[in-house]
Amino acid sequence: MDTSLKKYIRHIPDFPKQGILFYDITTLLKNKAAFKKAIDGLAKIAKGKKIDYVVSVESRGFIFGAALAYKLGAGFIPVRKKGKLPAETISADYALEYGTDSLYMHKDALKTSSRVLIVDDLLATGGTAAAVCSMARQLKSRIAGIIFLIELCGLKGREKLKDYPVYSLIQY
Ligand code: PRP
Ligand code: MG
Repeated sequence: MDTSLKKYIRHIPDFPKQGILFYDITTLLKNKAAFKKAIDGLAKIAKGKKIDYVVSVESRGFIFGAALAYKLGAGFIPVRKKGKLPAETISADYALEYGTDSLYMHKDALKTSSRVLIVDDLLATGGTAAAVCSMARQLKSRIAGIIFLIELCGLKGREKLKDYPVYSLIQY
């Protein structure tokens, strides 16, 4: 756990709606030392895992996933929302507060036995990351780990991801 990064994350009460406390990463991203420290911290967790591909979800996940892929010398695979990827896709559903939504990945994005690292900014309920795991499994890749900048421990998102190693740099 890296408490020194916490001070760069701004807390916004009642966003996007009443009763939700939003953890705003824009204040960390704009600080060059903090952003570097965050990417370096994530890279340290990934060290030695022999990652072929970093898989991240739009949009906040891309910020950390792409920087981390560059640092690890890995490829980058985008997971996107409906209608954004041009070639043949696979999909997975995940739960929203009311109803469900879907995420998509190119069908040829991962080869059998590719070692993948799933990266996102935030672990809340774990639904988003579980949907990404489900697609990575459909493509028969090996999930070497799932890394988050921030974990909201009270929401127990880890329980949805218990088949894989889960790491986070900052916990609330
Ligand atoms: C947020 C966050 C994670 C996800 C975590 O993304 O960036 O991707 O929610 O929530 P969960 O663990 O409950 O699934 P959001 O869907 O708000 O979109 P964004 O990244 O485009 O802002
Ligand atoms: Mg997101």
